[in-house]
Amino acid sequence: MLKLATVIGISSALITSCGQNKETKPKVDPTKIEVVGSSEAELTAPPFVPKPVGDRKATKLIVHMEIIEKEGVMADGVKYIYWTFGGSVPGSFIRTRIGDEVEFHLKNHPDNKLPHNIDLHAVTGPGGGAASSFVAPGHEVVFSFKVINQGLYVYHCATAPVGMHIANGMYGLILVEPEGGLPPVDKEYYVMQGDFYTKGANGEKGLQPFDMAKAIKEQPDYVVFNGSVGALAGDKAITAKVGETVRLYVGNGGPNLVSSFHVIGEIFDNVSIEGGSLVNHDVQTTLVPAGGSAIVDFKCEVPGTFIIVDHSIFRTFNKGSLGMLKVTGDENKTIFSGKQSEQVYHPEGGTIQTMPEDANASKLAKPTSLAERIEDGKSIYNKTCFACHQANGEGLPNAFPPLAKSDYLNADINRAIEIVLKGKTGEIAVNGKKYNSVMTAQTLTDEEVANVLTFVYSTWGNNKKEITPDMVAKMRKSTK
Ligand code: CU
Repeated sequence: MLKLATVIGISSALITSCGQNKETKPKVDPTKIEVVGSSEAELTAPPFVPKPVGDRKATKLIVHMEIIEKEGVMADGVKYIYWTFGGSVPGSFIRTRIGDEVEFHLKNHPDNKLPHNIDLHAVTGPGGGAASSFVAPGHEVVFSFKVINQGLYVYHCATAPVGMHIANGMYGLILVEPEGGLPPVDKEYYVMQGDFYTKGANGEKGLQPFDMAKAIKEQPDYVVFNGSVGALAGDKAITAKVGETVRLYVGNGGPNLVSSFHVIGEIFDNVSIEGGSLVNHDVQTTLVPAGGSAIVDFKCEVPGTFIIVDHSIFRTFNKGSLGMLKVTGDENKTIFSGKQSEQVYHPEGGTIQTMPEDANASKLAKPTSLAERIEDGKSIYNKTCFACHQANGEGLPNAFPPLAKSDYLNADINRAIEIVLKGKTGEIAVNGKKYNSVMTAQTLTDEEVANVLTFVYSTWGNNKKEITPDMVAKMRKSTK
């Protein structure tokens, strides 16, 4: 058992310090831990975390945090005014150890429009520091606290209307490590979920204001990791190598939803439940409450792209809570063989399935240029096609044909349109390889079919043809 060493390492360290233990190390009263010297805290933007505390003594740790209100990108073509701690959503990661005395400097940038404050769940004291840290634009406040409980804690703005400040991105994580630090791992990352409420529906372009009515009804348009759709995907994916151990500091800013945090194709070897001292093992999905956290770690045994999701799964494929961990290295066919064989299986009566319609689809703005058509097509691809044909159109061997540099695709545009509209069964040959799978008919509007195909034709070495809604409408008629 390769995993045993890490499992035992973590559980003994945490059990010792939480006191429900089988070990007899005397527990030090954390309020009495002496501080030695002072130092400036390292702060990091997601998905990165500061260096581990290691065996350093408790110290006076000085944190300089600046609140910045700024425009950012929620999704392709969708802008949002974020309110941030340190310029990122989630805010800067703060890393402390038990017994540290934190001197917190909170600055509200003079260009900001509103007063803010901070409630740190790692603080023992009224409001978690909220009242003491209330700060107007162009001001700086200072308050101090001693961290006397280890664990991973959420911090957030608590200025009225509190829900709105949190919904605009004002949350982050502060880690309190035990004496001697957490057991070392090879890679550590910072992942925090949040739900967002915009006036326009999901995907509606332009600068989208916050929608209070949707927030009260708890009906978000976006549910995302690290502040925006795609913040942890594609070339922003987090990475590891086969054989490495990975630890994720997972937070949930809410403001409303609870997260069913899951990494597809991995099992968490250890989970610090709710970010506290109780460690569970061999967990598939862990619940992360709004305003709560979890620390998960696992060893990467095989290479691949591991999709990070909120397993309330419509949020993932329709609202944005999709991240990626890309693991590189050698295959281990004993742990995972890949597909070993495939035969045709068409039971009697098998037909092509149709995807249900999306009532919102037709309300979205129409693109006015080729570039916009491609942009739109990209977001449709990422919602509709990506799961089978893969992120870069590379397909899946023996199952789903590639769309990248595809001779089949480039040979006949009308055939491609027809397949998207009507689905496809039976054997085809793409780039010299045979595929025999079922593609479902897609219920997309003419506009959407045009956009997604134009995106595919414009990318990955294809022949750059533009498909128009008229071409799709014509095919739809002629194949009825
Ligand atoms: Cu605020």
